[in-house]
Amino acid sequence: MTVRFSGGGFVDDDVEAYTYELLPPRDDVVSEMEQQAIERSIPIIGPAVARVLQQYALAINARRVFEMGSAIGYSTIWLARAVGPVGRVYYTDGGEKNAAEARGYFERAGILDRIEILVGDSIDLIDSVEGEFDLIFNDVDKHQYPAAFRKAAPRIRKGGLFITDNVLWGGRVARGDSDADTEGVREFNRLIYSSREMYSSILPIRDGLAVCLKL
Ligand SMILES: C[S@@+](CC[C@H](N)C(=O)[O-])C[C@H]1O[C@@H](n2cnc3c(N)ncnc32)[C@H](O)[C@@H]1O
Repeated sequence: MTVRFSGGGFVDDDVEAYTYELLPPRDDVVSEMEQQAIERSIPIIGPAVARVLQQYALAINARRVFEMGSAIGYSTIWLARAVGPVGRVYYTDGGEKNAAEARGYFERAGILDRIEILVGDSIDLIDSVEGEFDLIFNDVDKHQYPAAFRKAAPRIRKGGLFITDNVLWGGRVARGDSDADTEGVREFNRLIYSSREMYSSILPIRDGLAVCLKL
């Protein structure tokens, strides 16, 4: 079965389907999470974006990763596999139930020992973890994106990455929508491109992925 996690419709449907069909099959745990996400409408990044995220983490040899907005831990698993057995990924989410479900998946995937599970507001929780990060992945509520950027940017090492999902927000950022989430993403996009400490670009994959390199 072809599992699709399309977002913005920025790529032709048939082309997007083709790129998803090319993806190698995932293991049982990750496949089950994808199925759960479809059945329960959990907004995970899906396998195409997850692969990009993991690729960037591997490219910079990331060992310390902080994640903002982890839900059932799908993106966390891809990051945890990238950091390897000596790495550390900080899972953060506001929901106790999400965290409990995620823990079960991490255990079954054999990577629980490299993940720290923190429950609460990701934007506050980052203060409770000392040190710099090689990579921070941001996927919190969209109106919080500017706050997430301001908090996360100083915590990334030079040469590290700040990656954010949904920065095209179904195209609403480019149109007249003015709800809090759309305004949040718009402000975020202005921030990342005007920042002197980040070299940023937006990949129009699925719902838009921002990749910011710390200078
Ligand atoms: C889009 S989902 C995350 C999906 C996950 N990154 C993945 O791809 O597998 C966003 C999650 O972050 C949580 N969330 C949103 N804002 C948050 C915040 N400020 N602090 C903690 N959790 C937050 C939501 O409740 C939800 O579980």
